[in-house]
Amino acid sequence: MSLENLFSPIKIGNVEIPNRCAMAPMGLGTSMYNSDETWPKKTIRYYEERAIGGLGLIITQFVRIHDKLASFPIVGLYDDRQIPSHAELVERVHKHGTKIFHQIALMGGKFAGDAPSAIYSPNYINKPRALTTDELDMLVGCFIDAAGRGMQAGYDGAEVHAGHLYLIGAMISPATNKRIDKYGGSFDGRMKFITDIIKGIRSKYPKYNIGVKFSAYEELEGGIDVELGKKIAKYISDLGVDYLHVSTESTTLGVFSKLPPCPTMYQPRNILVPLAAEIKKICPNQVVMATGSITIPEEADTFIKEGKCDMVALGRTVIADPHWAKNAKEGKPVTPCIRCNVCYYHLLLNEMLCCSMNPYMLHESEADLSVPAKIKNVMVIGAGPAGIRAALTASKRGHRVTLYEKMPYIGGMIYPGGKPKFKQDVARAIEYFDKMLKSSNVNLVLNTEVTPELVEKLNPDSLVIAIGAKPIMLEIPGIYSSKVTSAIEVLRNISGFKKEDGNGRKVKAAVIGGGEVGCETACYMADNGFDVSIVEILPNLLEEDKDLNVKLPLLNLIKEKNIKIFTETKPNKVVEEGLEVILSNGKEGLIEADIIAVAINQKPENDLIKELALKAEEFYVIGDCSSVGRIKDAVSEGERVGRWI
Ligand SMILES: Cc1cc2nc3c(=O)[nH]c(=O)nc-3n(C[C@H](O)[C@H](O)[C@H](O)COP(=O)(O)OP(=O)(O)OC[C@H]3O[C@@H](n4cnc5c(N)ncnc54)[C@H](O)[C@@H]3O)c2cc1C
Ligand SMILES: Cc1cc2nc3c(=O)[nH]c(=O)nc-3n(C[C@H](O)[C@H](O)[C@H](O)COP(=O)(O)O)c2cc1C
Ligand code: SF4
Repeated sequence: MSLENLFSPIKIGNVEIPNRCAMAPMGLGTSMYNSDETWPKKTIRYYEERAIGGLGLIITQFVRIHDKLASFPIVGLYDDRQIPSHAELVERVHKHGTKIFHQIALMGGKFAGDAPSAIYSPNYINKPRALTTDELDMLVGCFIDAAGRGMQAGYDGAEVHAGHLYLIGAMISPATNKRIDKYGGSFDGRMKFITDIIKGIRSKYPKYNIGVKFSAYEELEGGIDVELGKKIAKYISDLGVDYLHVSTESTTLGVFSKLPPCPTMYQPRNILVPLAAEIKKICPNQVVMATGSITIPEEADTFIKEGKCDMVALGRTVIADPHWAKNAKEGKPVTPCIRCNVCYYHLLLNEMLCCSMNPYMLHESEADLSVPAKIKNVMVIGAGPAGIRAALTASKRGHRVTLYEKMPYIGGMIYPGGKPKFKQDVARAIEYFDKMLKSSNVNLVLNTEVTPELVEKLNPDSLVIAIGAKPIMLEIPGIYSSKVTSAIEVLRNISGFKKEDGNGRKVKAAVIGGGEVGCETACYMADNGFDVSIVEILPNLLEEDKDLNVKLPLLNLIKEKNIKIFTETKPNKVVEEGLEVILSNGKEGLIEADIIAVAINQKPENDLIKELALKAEEFYVIGDCSSVGRIKDAVSEGERVGRWI
């Protein structure tokens, strides 16, 4: 596919953008600003890498326009002394032919204490204070001044952040704006704050380009529905802005949203594109930017071709692959964003952002590889993400690398992990690894179980043990019955399990363990026609998963699939009819089951690891076989060791 639509230029106001790929604005956390609220060198480097990566436009993370009200410290544009740092960022991005807009915003009641109205909202941590009319008048002026400073710094335009229930978004939303002054009371009243900002920038800086990001939908009682979203879009478009950037509510609502702004792997890709398409229909002459898990270049190209949007705003997509645009244009594989939201969760925890697939996120200047002093014969055991990444990096540095895998396929645990349809973005990681291995000098040997004897015989200079972990089996009577298997086995080979008995009745399955693997396995079995129950000893499913943005969509899948849930329920014994349990009321019960899939945990095979390690002079133990973790840990450890050997 030529991707000619994605890589055709487009005009936003008076500036020509070389292609349709924009970097969506993304906050980097409060650690990523200088104490005078200017851009740190590291952040400038981070943006520059994405410019080198071929994006047509970068929209910066939001910068605040006032140093006290409705916000907390972050990069600012509220003082002239901040202009030189912005000018440096602009210059570093422009050098690569990429255009750059700055986003301007205030947090409002979401994280800071000042909001349109002093009301409780699922969007607020605490009940905020209502801003006075005078304060809002003053803030309008601050937005206009911030745009002026952005223009002075050389930016190509300003994006006004009027979505995600930040201050302007909360002024627009009927759920959070209950004011009775000129800034509320009616649709026009709620739109007055943004109207004054846009008209003010236009009249003071007529040549400056203005985009607006807004929520076209909110999963919030009394909030913005799609019809109101369209009305807002038309209204803003008629103010004469240069583009509309179509998003949805807030990631901090704590409720399941049909259309969340950062959709995770449990919701379809491109889920917000239809909203952008609706807006494009009613504002046909407006540049419309779509966002929300647009990760595949061919899909992005098609949306533009079909007129659903004019540009795509790529967020996590370009965290995972800063060179996404360049790679796509040159027909090279792009590193897929698996939509795990690890990055976003780190932001919410106020920690430095990192990425499951890109170990150089915010470490861009460290990505160059050194040439080793001695070229070694490297033996890597295990073609999971840890072993693959170690093999690729060591090979790129010039070592002679052989990667052994006992299974007939690569991927390790992400092979079963990527089987359900709703985890196809994780499966894409395997496709990516496969392409990278094929285009590398790594010698991949499948179907070969490495033993300590084999290591001794081959006598590598360096041994990387990346053999993952093994599922733990529950020790209860009857567990060795033929009806018991591991969840991983079910995921690996669902077609090996009958889903109907001879009488057309659905086969009953009980999944023991309501953590992530158990819940995903249960959904996968339900999708494949099984009648599924989950048995969990803790009071709730996914008790240990803290990231609500990921957890709520998975819980919703379980609800949609009518899976029966038994929490505070202890498996007691496997019997002919199924699983005997102790129920939450302390009484014994029976969960009928023809198959029992155990998903309680995994642990490294320490004895084998030790035996393998003792056969090599230089060895490394990485990934799940060092400590059971996540793809992020496996990939970053693989990279670390691949650089170290
Ligand atoms: C069902 C499931 C879903 C998951 N989903 C996610 C997710 O959505 N996001 C996330 O971040 N993490 C997820 N994880 C965790 C993630 O898959 C693991 O953390 C990651 O795969 C660990 O990588 P690894 O390379 O260390 O080990 P593994 O992926 O386990 O790979 C080890 C490889 O070594 C091979 N091997 C073992 N012994 C030998 C031997 N003697 N000789 C040759 N080869 C050998 C194995 O066959 C395997 O291919 C999931 C895990 C499971 C089980
Ligand atoms: C870490 C992170 C920080 C974000 N910060 C902002 C922000 O400052 N302003 C904003 O408008 N959107 C922000 N977003 C939302 C993105 O701009 C984008 O709308 C969303 O991530 C969907 O795009 P994606 O699926 O390509 O990630 C953020 C998203 C992420 C993942
Ligand atoms: S951490 Fe996960 S969601 Fe975030 S960019 Fe990386 S792969 Fe995508």
